[in-house]
Amino acid sequence: MSTNRPEPKSILITGATGGIGGELAKRYARPGRTLILWGRDEEKLRKISAVCGGRGAKIISRQIDLAKGQDALSAFYEDDAIAQCDMVILGAGLSDIKTPKDLTEDPQKVLQLALVNYTAPVTLATAAARRMIPRKGGRVVLIGSVSAYYELPFSAAYSSSKAGLASFASAARLGWEEEGIKVIHIAPGFVDTQMSQRLKGSLPFLVSVENAAKRIMKAIHHNEEECIFPWQFRILRVAERLVPQFLRKRILKSIRADQE
Ligand SMILES: NC(=O)c1ccc[n+]([C@@H]2O[C@H](COP(=O)([O-])OP(=O)(O)OC[C@H]3O[C@@H](n4cnc5c(N)ncnc54)[C@H](OP(=O)(O)O)[C@@H]3O)[C@@H](O)[C@H]2O)c1
Repeated sequence: MSTNRPEPKSILITGATGGIGGELAKRYARPGRTLILWGRDEEKLRKISAVCGGRGAKIISRQIDLAKGQDALSAFYEDDAIAQCDMVILGAGLSDIKTPKDLTEDPQKVLQLALVNYTAPVTLATAAARRMIPRKGGRVVLIGSVSAYYELPFSAAYSSSKAGLASFASAARLGWEEEGIKVIHIAPGFVDTQMSQRLKGSLPFLVSVENAAKRIMKAIHHNEEECIFPWQFRILRVAERLVPQFLRKRILKSIRADQE
């Protein structure tokens, strides 16, 4: 049966050594598909490549630091020349917060975070679109966060990097849609991975990594433009429009966050 949602044959996943990226890699692994798996940690990369290879996918793996933007761009061109990606999932990310004892976030971490969370994904997304357009289309998936929608005073760098990514997704979608490129922006709430496990205190509406991956794959399959999950955060997005600015600021300033 013909479908206008062709299954991707060649997928680049950044952050494949992480919780969400690793789960997506496993679920996308199958015979006839090439997975280009990128990560920084050599051992984790070896393990996830072995698992995905064991499921029948052809694996190209690369140990890379995405804070080195030029290296990442060159690596993309090299891997794409071999495997002609028809989907990129840009999932690598770093988080950091200002704990109650800090005056500000750590500037050194802010620099890394801006490079990994914003500069690298928008650069790779653009390079991928440029390669996919002459091949008549493809998908660019950007893993952001619900924090994109909130000015979080304890994580100005993280929340604004994700806000930048959300804004990039909207603009790029308009720019590329007539060229056959689908831009899919994923905005998860808390997902149970190493990233969220560093946070102290309660994590409302926490989702397992398995459920997060299923939800993301559904959004990709249906070419959803923006996928906010779990559903409680979609309700909040609507409800918050009714909250006056002064109250919004007061609520945001009252949130206490801490990490290991
Ligand atoms: N977990 C959550 O609650 C949550 C919520 C909303 C959004 N997100 C987003 O979801 C994405 C995946 O996060 P996760 O929860 O799966 O976290 P995770 O388990 O900590 O994974 C993070 C991934 O990013 C990679 N990475 C970090 N810095 C890198 C660098 N300099 N160069 C290359 N790769 C780098 C890590 O590679 P190595 O491990 O090899 O260093 C790892 O693969 C992130 O973009 C995150 O912001 C997560």
